[in-house]
Amino acid sequence: MDKITVIGAGAVGATCANVIAHKDVTKEVILIDVKPGVAEGKALDIWQTSAINSFNTRVTGYTDDYEKTRDSGIIVITSGLPRKPGMSRDDLIKTNALIVKDVAGKAMKYSPGAIIIMVTNPLDVMTYAATKAARNTGNPVFGMAGILDTGRYRAFLANALNVSPLDIQALLMGGHGDTMVPLPRYTSIAGIPLTELLGSEEIEKIVERTAKGGGEIVKLLGTSAWYAPGAAVAQMVEAIVNDQKRIFPVSTILNGEYGLKDVCLGVPVVLGRGGIEKIIEIDLNDDEMALLKTSSGHVKEVMKALDDMNLF
Ligand code: NAI
Ligand code: 2OP
Repeated sequence: MDKITVIGAGAVGATCANVIAHKDVTKEVILIDVKPGVAEGKALDIWQTSAINSFNTRVTGYTDDYEKTRDSGIIVITSGLPRKPGMSRDDLIKTNALIVKDVAGKAMKYSPGAIIIMVTNPLDVMTYAATKAARNTGNPVFGMAGILDTGRYRAFLANALNVSPLDIQALLMGGHGDTMVPLPRYTSIAGIPLTELLGSEEIEKIVERTAKGGGEIVKLLGTSAWYAPGAAVAQMVEAIVNDQKRIFPVSTILNGEYGLKDVCLGVPVVLGRGGIEKIIEIDLNDDEMALLKTSSGHVKEVMKALDDMNLF
């Protein structure tokens, strides 16, 4: 895959382009934004680090010029608006779904086979929106949230245990938001079950902090995170381009897996050149399954609100 496009050159999109370029896994990264000059300026700034940080991936930016995205292997969509004062959740869904429909449509026209990675929030519902937009083209669509949420969980655990985050293996499922489902039973530290190293009360606190991890950053910064989200998307891109067959939690439309249907939700998948090559179904106990169903119910409610708008 010689070309990766990132749509939306805001905080997350530009960071994602920057990390992809530094990984040097593709020839070209194209950054697109609707605001004149933003994509051009950020791309130029990133490219000017190439000689300093030793990478060859060319990074260029364009204002709304989708011809430049032609033949991309992957299209990352980060464009969207944050919720503004006075804006209802439905207003936000409608605004962002229309942006997703518009940009996905234009991008897929020039890259019919491209894999679409959704980032815009609300993530699972926007993954559903892009899935609808791709209904006639067949472009594979899935969304990034689980790597970010798991990254937060692993970082908190690394602090609590005073060990390297690299030695923490963890899995997290469900929707991206307060109803996400961290799975301490499937968390291990260099092969040692987490439950042998940390008490249930401490685990509970970390699970709670992870579920509210996005909000914690918003409270501190007045806006949402970008370093970890950008890095998380770049890790997915790397897994696809290099056909790594990495196992990550990824939001995708379910078709009976975990007893759930027609809902976009984070589940463990094998990610390789073909995108999602397999959805892994692990055993969940009754409590874990109940949490997953609650999360699914929450996402479905918002998906229904989108369906009722008849935008697609
Ligand atoms: P931002 O406001 O910094 O950037 C968004 C960019 O999209 C802006 O530059 C804007 O001009 C551009 N844009 C808007 N409409 C466009 C259109 N029609 N075509 C092209 N570009 C357009 O926002 P930020 O912080 O980069 O976040 C982007 C999205 O990612 C938000 O929806 C945010 O909630 C979401 N997000 C999702 C995460 C996840 O885990 N999935 C994590 C962090 C953020
Ligand atoms: C985050 O979790 C807001 O989705 C964004 O940081």
